[in-house]
Amino acid sequence: MSTATPPADRHPGLADSAFLKAARGEPVPHTPVWYMRQAGRSLPEYLAVREGVGMLESCMDADLVTEITLQPVRRYGVDAAIFFSDIVLPLKAVGVDLDIKPGVGPVVAEPVRTLADVAAIPDLTPEHVPFISQAVRQLTAELGGTPLIGFAGAPFTVASYLVEGGPSKEHAKTKAMMFGAPDVWDALMRKIAGIAATYLEVQVAAGASAVQLFDSWAGALTPADYAEHVMPHSARVLARAGELGVPRIHFGVGTTNLLGLMGEAGADVVGVDWRTPLDAAIPLVGGRAVQGNLDPTLVFAPTEVMTARAAEVIEAGRAAPGHVFNLGHGVIPSTDPDQLKRLTEFVQAYRPTEV
Ligand code: CP3
Repeated sequence: MSTATPPADRHPGLADSAFLKAARGEPVPHTPVWYMRQAGRSLPEYLAVREGVGMLESCMDADLVTEITLQPVRRYGVDAAIFFSDIVLPLKAVGVDLDIKPGVGPVVAEPVRTLADVAAIPDLTPEHVPFISQAVRQLTAELGGTPLIGFAGAPFTVASYLVEGGPSKEHAKTKAMMFGAPDVWDALMRKIAGIAATYLEVQVAAGASAVQLFDSWAGALTPADYAEHVMPHSARVLARAGELGVPRIHFGVGTTNLLGLMGEAGADVVGVDWRTPLDAAIPLVGGRAVQGNLDPTLVFAPTEVMTARAAEVIEAGRAAPGHVFNLGHGVIPSTDPDQLKRLTEFVQAYRPTEV
């Protein structure tokens, strides 16, 4: 699938996309903006279409995925859409017994502990996820010149759900496997990396213009452990995504000490959470573009406080070759969509101060 059509050839409007330009470090008319978790519980129209439909069930319904992905684009006019799915969806698609419990997150019925457990997880093929290809095709037709970001969970973060059996603060069982059972760990990471890479290839082949690899919980690792036990696996995913010719965003939470390595793993854009100021992050990412990083709780502050802080983020982002504005993590479900709309308008209208 390395012969994917470059996105600019797919829809003429994509050539002018501020998001794609920023991701490639090219000059932009305005700082592009989208939000992690822009689709979801903060939107009444999302709650309405999800009424009585389970999370994973909705992710496997191409029409529902299309509608939910488009909702924030219609409402906010953001510069990019993110495909509505979940990082555990490809595992579900290959037959892992798991569910996403409301207010909890992914829960795995039989946590992975042994080499036999890893071997029992099939590799992903495009035939496992026809609804993904269909949804992406429908979406890219509807979105026109607005790029669609495809995504996958990175091996460490997905492994954490598989090994712990559910959400975890310490990732203790996961790290115990990493330190104590290197053969099982290596097999598991290879398995997930293969699944993630294929999942991204399916999305790009169907029309996604960029990809984001979510390693949300990588911040639980020291740089040395990340470099030895995790980075080579994420690097394989990013290398396969790189062959598709689309920009690759690599994001994690609490990753101040990992930003350089996360860039080196093969990212074009390094996602930064709100704890690291962009002016501190930019020198760490090896001349790459950055994405982020307004504290998601600032959307709950008075508008002028929120926009003043957004302006600081945009100004700091100018030190990088490219900057995509985002929150420092996902939209909080109780966020007021009207306030997020004001933020979007502010970022898109903002013009940098003269230097
Ligand atoms: O708009 C978007 O950003 C796209 C949709 C998206 C979802 N999950 C939908 C979702 C994306 C990109 C994800 C990725 C994801 N899923 C990550 C990485 C991003 C991050 O937040 O760091 C992680 C760690 C997961 C695992 C997961 N799935 C969690 C922690 C939760 C939240 C549990 C809860 O209910 O609070 C989920 C469920 C989930 N994924 C929801 C949504 C909209 C909420 C379920 C619902 O609406 O019923």
